[in-house]
Amino acid sequence: GDESAYRVTQHQPMKLAAMEGIYQGEHRAGITAFGILNPSKQPGDDKEVFLFDITIPYALSILGNRSPDSFVAGIEDLLYGNEEKGVVGIDSRIQNGKIALQAFKDYKEAKAQNDTEAMNALKEVIQTHIKDFGYGYLHAPQEAIPPIALTFYSFHLMVALGSAFFVLFVVVLYLAMANNIVQFRKILWLCVIAIPFGYIAAEAGWIVAEVGRQPWAIQDLLPVGIAATNLSSVNVQISFFIFAILFTTLLCAEISIMVRSIKKGFEEEHTPLMQSVQKGGK
Ligand code: HEM
Repeated sequence: GDESAYRVTQHQPMKLAAMEGIYQGEHRAGITAFGILNPSKQPGDDKEVFLFDITIPYALSILGNRSPDSFVAGIEDLLYGNEEKGVVGIDSRIQNGKIALQAFKDYKEAKAQNDTEAMNALKEVIQTHIKDFGYGYLHAPQEAIPPIALTFYSFHLMVALGSAFFVLFVVVLYLAMANNIVQFRKILWLCVIAIPFGYIAAEAGWIVAEVGRQPWAIQDLLPVGIAATNLSSVNVQISFFIFAILFTTLLCAEISIMVRSIKKGFEEEHTPLMQSVQKGGK
């Protein structure tokens, strides 16, 4: 989690701002431990971001930049630019991107005509603006903002579950080491109930990663709309159904193997694990 948050802050600041619902950047930025977003909030207006929130101060600056006083950019800083903090606005990035994109098209033409001089000049233009290349495909600055609510709630669900798992783990470890975990049947049930929540946390994390990076297929370089395949939908459907059938067959095979093994049970006299458990018990 720590490493992911650090990487996102350094390379996908808009995703991080959406994950935490930060509209205006701040030093000593906190993490919202619990928050309900104001659904009518839009970038640039002066409405409150949260209807209710509890924030852990400094936590986001530490997680994102590994420095408690550091500045974390918000959606509005990234959208409109913040000169003081060296953040370039999306409008300027779109203009730079369009220059790079045009230079790229011209480069191809120059190459077709074997015009080396023009190619070198255009290459320089592309290199100067390459970090804004993908913005040239955008039509409006707002397109650079991912769906904020979905990213925010998925992130917070994942972190809440991750924190709960950690507490459960510490409790179970303590009881197991104290050798009396079997007396705490409710804790054991809690462990069983926790199993599907691991998958829910993983899916929530995946939503954060994929929804939060919109509109990019490759950050700042290739928007999803441009990256989309031009294969016909029939081709996509065929490969989808092949995968669906293959994995469903594998799932059925795996479940039937597991059920058969469970029904068979332990072969006590031949199982070293069982023998050592029994010896330990004695
Ligand atoms: C305090 C706890 C946690 C923190 C701070 C945290 C942080 C993060 C962050 C920042 C991302 C976004 C990465 C990106 O977009 O590149 C992420 C993604 C993800 N997280 Fe968590 N996470 C936590 C707990 C968990 C737990 C408990 C699970 C699963 C059991 C989980 C599974 C995932 C998955 C599957 C992804 C998507 C990775 C990818 O597709 O690149 N996380 N997490």
